[in-house]
Amino acid sequence: MSDDPLDLFRLDGQVALVTGASAGLGARFARVLHRVGATVVISARRVERLESLAGELPGAIVIPADVSVADDRERLIVETIERAGRLDVLVNNAGVSHIVGIERETLDQFEQAMQVNTTAVWHLIKLCVPHMTERGSGVIVNIASMLGLVGATPIKQANYCASKGAVVNMTRELALQLARKGIRVNALCPGYFPSEMTEPMLGDESSEQYIRTFAAIPRMGYDHELDGALLLLASAAGSYITGHALLVDGGFTAH
Ligand SMILES: NC(=O)c1ccc[n+]([C@@H]2O[C@H](COP(=O)([O-])OP(=O)(O)OC[C@H]3O[C@@H](n4cnc5c(N)ncnc54)[C@H](OP(=O)(O)O)[C@@H]3O)[C@@H](O)[C@H]2O)c1
Repeated sequence: MSDDPLDLFRLDGQVALVTGASAGLGARFARVLHRVGATVVISARRVERLESLAGELPGAIVIPADVSVADDRERLIVETIERAGRLDVLVNNAGVSHIVGIERETLDQFEQAMQVNTTAVWHLIKLCVPHMTERGSGVIVNIASMLGLVGATPIKQANYCASKGAVVNMTRELALQLARKGIRVNALCPGYFPSEMTEPMLGDESSEQYIRTFAAIPRMGYDHELDGALLLLASAAGSYITGHALLVDGGFTAH
């Protein structure tokens, strides 16, 4: 084993599947995992975006899937293992939110957020468990949110808070169930980062004022500021970390 501690963060020879890799944080995560040596399997619904990203990442495998559809989830895991030969790291990143107060929030919005952000996460993990158990190792990184730990108002989104809160506690429970099979399960909980999801907030003075007031570091996160946390949870550098919800939120939740 190398005595360079930075080598612990490398994923050479490993296969990492990232859902929601067609945009935002997921595309960044795929690039980062690829950069440290992983073969990346990238998934989402917008195929042309995945193909374009794959063009930048030699060896990347594109598997389009809608994670709100159970058959797609099953095909995604089966095809990943068939085409890549193994699956070491699952990054459950695909997510949606509906910013709306409860008076106008619809049941469809609530259920869609739960399907994509929570049910799909549970099901994709479940589908990986036999393969990872057989191999005696595996890593799950659930991209939750600081809004899985605190409320969101004035940026109202009960659908999102409920779905991410469920992911945080499911992470703890599955970490307990799976640790002795060699599988680690953690949640990464970002604060606000620029992406399609947060686009309505960008340039909106009241949202920006809110972030400036409540984040101890008074700004949104920069793109690269999740890289280290992702790699810590995904790699051997985090081999004694499981069941953890790692906040990367500029101190937003320190209040
Ligand atoms: N940005 C933030 O400030 C922030 C903060 C905390 C947590 N997060 C979490 O980070 C993750 C990524 O968010 P983001 O900000 O990068 O959002 P984004 O730019 O809106 O990207 C969302 C990704 O999820 C995919 N997706 C959505 N619905 C899907 C479905 N039914 N099936 C498959 N893929 C689907 C989208 O791809 P397609 O449309 O191509 O399917 C896209 O690639 C989410 O889980 C989000 O909750 C973000």
